Amino acid sequence: MDDIRAAQAAALSQVEQADSLEAIAALDSTLLGKQGEIAAFKRQLGSLETVDEKKAAGQAVNEALQAVAAALETRQRELGDAALQAKVAAERLDLTEYVTAPTRGHAHLVTQAWERLEDVFIGLGFQVAEGPEVETDWHNFEALNMGEGHPARGEFDTLFVDYAPEGGSEGRTVLRTHTSPVQIRTMLEQEPPIYIVAPGRVFRRDTPDATHMPVFHQIEGLVIDRNITLADLAGTIEAFTHAFFGPGFSSRLRPSYFPFTEPSAEFDVQRPDGSWLELGGCGMVHPNVLRAGGLDPTEWSGFAFGFGIDRMAVMRHQVADLRDMYADDIRFATQF
Ligand code: DAH
Repeated sequence: MDDIRAAQAAALSQVEQADSLEAIAALDSTLLGKQGEIAAFKRQLGSLETVDEKKAAGQAVNEALQAVAAALETRQRELGDAALQAKVAAERLDLTEYVTAPTRGHAHLVTQAWERLEDVFIGLGFQVAEGPEVETDWHNFEALNMGEGHPARGEFDTLFVDYAPEGGSEGRTVLRTHTSPVQIRTMLEQEPPIYIVAPGRVFRRDTPDATHMPVFHQIEGLVIDRNITLADLAGTIEAFTHAFFGPGFSSRLRPSYFPFTEPSAEFDVQRPDGSWLELGGCGMVHPNVLRAGGLDPTEWSGFAFGFGIDRMAVMRHQVADLRDMYADDIRFATQF
């Protein structure tokens, strides 16, 4: 009996010291198996003299085996839990590790330029107008004095839409190549006097490079009133230049050509250091464009202008490559 108890105690202390699941598995077979030390006592039962002795010894062996089995199970559970916790701790990924404090994002650089332009023009008494990005050939070209076959159409690398409007035919619908069609829509929707700017997205079949994107942004201006002259146009461009760029800047008009204005001009802005910056096109609204907008050119006159918004953002923040503004790289965005 003492030998059985001693064997049980030795086995239990082995189980307690086991430090891995592999060790438990090994002990399971050596301690509980048929060849194990405790099981060996069973084979000696026959040599005991009395039935009572045999019974007591057999019971002691069974109890020893049960105690060891229970200890193995407990130890296995302990080791299993510890292993799982170690694994979880090792694989722990702290997603807040790189964020030292809550941060706020900001609007896209083009959105910022767009909103600043709106603010300045609203300050000059303009309202903001909108038009669709998918346009009819008529609004985008025809009504702007660029009929079928007009050579100026060739300057717009137009993206045509696979869609035939009701009563029309395919190839008459385009992604608008400029914001100028909003001039037509506004004249058809609103009674003059009209003082609007129309910022928006425009599309041309251009390969992206440092200064071109197939999707970009323009802001259009349109003024229609009685007795509007070229002096009103020049004065408005000058007032805008001061309001947007600052007091050290001034503007000039250079003769140019656009089908939808007559006369037409390009306008440049002079920086305080004397250098010039080409900004956009402008001119007096062509009588054919007024007529397309449902207005009588003998009663109403007006001017229009248009320029790129993306360029304003690029200049303001000295971005070297236009494509960076659309790559959505956090390392770029967080610099501003
Ligand atoms: N729509 C022209 C372009 O995309 C820009 C432009 C020129 C707009 C002269 C105007 C204008 O309103 O009068 O190239």
